[in-house]
Amino acid sequence: MSNTPLKARKVSFSWEGTPMHWVPGDPFATHTMNVLHLLLPAGERWFVHVYKQVLPLIRDDRLREDVIGFIGQEAMHSQAHDEVLPHLKELGLDPTPYTAQIDWFFEKLLGDRTPPLLNAWVVPPSPGRARRWWLMERVALIAAIEHYTAFLGDWILNADELDRRRADPTMLDLMRWHGAEEVEHRSVAFDLFMHVDGSYRRRVRTWATAFSALVFLWQRGARFFMENDPTLVDGKASFKDFYVCGRRGTLPATGDMLKSIPRYLSRAYHPSQDGCTEQALAYLATSPAALAAEKAEKGAA
Ligand SMILES: [Fe+2]
Ligand SMILES: [Fe+2]
Repeated sequence: MSNTPLKARKVSFSWEGTPMHWVPGDPFATHTMNVLHLLLPAGERWFVHVYKQVLPLIRDDRLREDVIGFIGQEAMHSQAHDEVLPHLKELGLDPTPYTAQIDWFFEKLLGDRTPPLLNAWVVPPSPGRARRWWLMERVALIAAIEHYTAFLGDWILNADELDRRRADPTMLDLMRWHGAEEVEHRSVAFDLFMHVDGSYRRRVRTWATAFSALVFLWQRGARFFMENDPTLVDGKASFKDFYVCGRRGTLPATGDMLKSIPRYLSRAYHPSQDGCTEQALAYLATSPAALAAEKAEKGAA
């Protein structure tokens, strides 16, 4: 658990000046990171939806406070990424066909009704136990996903190569503000899972599901953007491109991503072992978008 209470920081971005390829000359790195704007609005809304159902099960006041702070932060992240989508559309890249699929994935497949395939195989037969089983499964899925959001948050805070390549400062600020809050609240989802369930088998099973789904959705999203980018003649996305960008430092390195797997699956794992809270808080104290929102709020007061 964090030492300071988590708070949702307001942010304010203006996207007019952000070009299509906000990592200059690197459409693949740009669009791979743009996938976040496709996945996160629906994904983080789903986190909030699930966590509101778990709140009554929390028997620890401090953890409940952290979960409430987490809900506030994720709701703000979801909204901030959602606001980038109209700008992409203005640039000629309409994300609607893909976001419609993502909305279905989180709202229907991972909604409150257990998926029919699971119902037939593994879910306990009584309706009450089945509801709880599915809620615990989704809490564990969120803990696994948050392992990766913390990993990516730590990466973006340290991705100096993006500064060297003069990546668009507004987009970089959105990514780093979000990444810093992911690092700040990195223990909440895991602590919550351990508090309400904590089964090691469930941790492994849901990690495998979350990892496969993330890889699947991410590569589809990157391909969608590359193929539909009106400025590219023959836009393609491949694993080789990902590997090359990772070596260059414009995306996370493949080796680092692979090394993060056994860390999550270790019985001694705790998210506080990765990432640096001080670094995250230092960024949040100077984030241009957070400062702009603070100034606007003071001006209105
Ligand atoms: Fe987030
Ligand atoms: Fe998060």
